[in-house]
Amino acid sequence: MANSILNARTGSTALYDRVKRVIPPPEWATFAEDVDAILGLKRRRNAVVLAHNYQTPEIFHGVADIVGDSLSLAREATKVDADIIVLAGVHFMAETAKLLNPDKTVLIPDLSAGCSLADSITARDVRLMRQRYPGVPVVTYVNTTTAVKAESDICCTSGNALKVVQSLGAERVIMLPDEYLAQNIAAQTDVKIIAWKGHCEVHELFTAEDVRQLRENHPDVTVLAHPECPPDVVAEADFSGSTAAMSDFVLQQRPPRVVLLTECSMSDNVSVLHPDVEFIRPCNLCPHMKRITLKNIRHALETGRHEVTIDPAIAAPARRAVERMLAL
Ligand code: 13P
Ligand code: SF4
Repeated sequence: MANSILNARTGSTALYDRVKRVIPPPEWATFAEDVDAILGLKRRRNAVVLAHNYQTPEIFHGVADIVGDSLSLAREATKVDADIIVLAGVHFMAETAKLLNPDKTVLIPDLSAGCSLADSITARDVRLMRQRYPGVPVVTYVNTTTAVKAESDICCTSGNALKVVQSLGAERVIMLPDEYLAQNIAAQTDVKIIAWKGHCEVHELFTAEDVRQLRENHPDVTVLAHPECPPDVVAEADFSGSTAAMSDFVLQQRPPRVVLLTECSMSDNVSVLHPDVEFIRPCNLCPHMKRITLKNIRHALETGRHEVTIDPAIAAPARRAVERMLAL
């Protein structure tokens, strides 16, 4: 499910009430001027900010118009009624937004906001996999470049990977590039999954021993793990799902104590909405997500940099793979 759509901004002072539990007043004081400037720039430029769940709270709760996981950001990008989209997230997310909005200006505040999964595979690698497994459909995680998507039959996200794999009606599926996501999906289906060796540098750091330690130290804790975590971590968790699914789990189940085995800003952002839930916070930072700041979002809106462009030769097949996913 998409996360909330944040509207009716009234300025940084009113906004502070929302985030005061996770941002101390002196820190907010350093953000307020940029928040007000961004709110004004968005109105004047007819721009919206789409922010991933791993963005820091001053971005997520302060200036974002639409927040969510990769799937909901892709879905919401198709409905945006604005001239400019600023993608507060990593480069593949901005490329997906551009693919779905070829006539709009899509900006990413820092061009070097990458992803270890997107870096783990090239278009040539996908062609070689097709040669090795002729006729086997290729499902590609959205955490990839446009060139890799263009070689694929269909995309998936962590929120719909099982559904996408099962929709193909194939005995075998090539699932790229996240080995752990592929293994975690393989555990839930009879479809034989052929995986790649890519890993998320954030989620691969969690271990099953971490989960056992957490349960020893906090016997009543509910453990939620992102499916990019290794399978033995997911096996020890109480629930595994996309960032939006984790957020929904907390909303619906209201566990008294919870740990989100994922990127650090998730707990900050979700805890703002649930003061009654205690968040235990071992987490790992994504250095790519953390490249996006209020300062460079403001700069993007002031200067129009960095505009995301896509080679027209690969745009059409990549768009097909993304749209096929969205149609499911
Ligand atoms: P979600 O699609 O679950 O938001 O995950 C994106 C991501 O990059 C996780 O590391
Ligand atoms: Fe990529 Fe992992 Fe960062 Fe997500 S958390 S953007 S998968 S490196």
